[in-house]
Amino acid sequence: MGVVTKAEQEALVAAACAARAQAYAPYSQYAVGAALLAADGRIFTGVNVENASYGLTMCAERTAVFKMVSEGQQQILAVAICTDNGGSPCGACRQVLVEFAGDIPIFLCDSAGNVRQTSLHTLLPDHFGPEHLPGQ
Ligand code: THU
Repeated sequence: MGVVTKAEQEALVAAACAARAQAYAPYSQYAVGAALLAADGRIFTGVNVENASYGLTMCAERTAVFKMVSEGQQQILAVAICTDNGGSPCGACRQVLVEFAGDIPIFLCDSAGNVRQTSLHTLLPDHFGPEHLPGQ
């Protein structure tokens, strides 16, 4: 696992919790904020964006990843996710994170300020990744 400083961790957690206020979750009422630390030191945030056609909902984590890649970064060093109850990222988001990260720290935060640290390979062991495709 790469080294992330305490200051970086705190900045990431603060960014995820601040972003959460922008979540568009009128159907589930489950607001999620995510923040990624990219290799260039920038923090990219994302929120869940729901839709009246429920299946079109986008999770906060993938919103953040797609923003990061769109802005020219392809390496994630750490992730913070803020929800009401410290929920863990869904399977689809874990897979998308694996595309752009190694066994990075993941900080799961709740609205009371509690933070639990886990890691991407703990959440998605024995994963399928770019290394399994010929020529990658
Ligand atoms: N959600 C996320 O944003 N990230 C996850 O990893 C799990 C679920 C969102 C999707 C939906 O808007 C709401 O949480 C309830 O599922």
